[in-house]
Amino acid sequence: MIAIGSDHGGYLLKQEVLKYLDQNNIKYKDFGTFSTESCDYPEIAQLVASKVSSGEFKRGLLFCGTGLGMSVAANKIKNIRAVCLTDSYSVKYSRLHNDANILCLGGRVVGIGLALELINIFLSTEFDLENSRHKKRLEMINILENK
Ligand code: RB5
Repeated sequence: MIAIGSDHGGYLLKQEVLKYLDQNNIKYKDFGTFSTESCDYPEIAQLVASKVSSGEFKRGLLFCGTGLGMSVAANKIKNIRAVCLTDSYSVKYSRLHNDANILCLGGRVVGIGLALELINIFLSTEFDLENSRHKKRLEMINILENK
């Protein structure tokens, strides 16, 4: 189950993505916003990120104008490793090496074709659990987070 949210800047891209998820029977919950009316992205980032942080949702998708505000805000929440990316290689390795749990995309930056390609990689790639180096580095990030 995926937790999803956007502000007004990412709303239209989110709507396209939701259509795709529905067509492909991919389960999600949309935490808003529900129109193109201006709203504050940190509020939506907090809603989605806290659901991922608690483990209630495995992954999250956040959309704003650039994806940047959402990623900065989501990364303030414990256990969140949010990434804002526009290339498939980095998305793949954000999962394999960094165990990224939220992907942020910019509705004013990427088109629906690229967005779906990135989302599919993000949702289908698992963290490389066998590699103790990556696990150790994530533990180091947890220590930083608790300082
Ligand atoms: C809203 O205009 C815009 O600032 C927001 O969607 C986002 O891009 C912030 O990072």
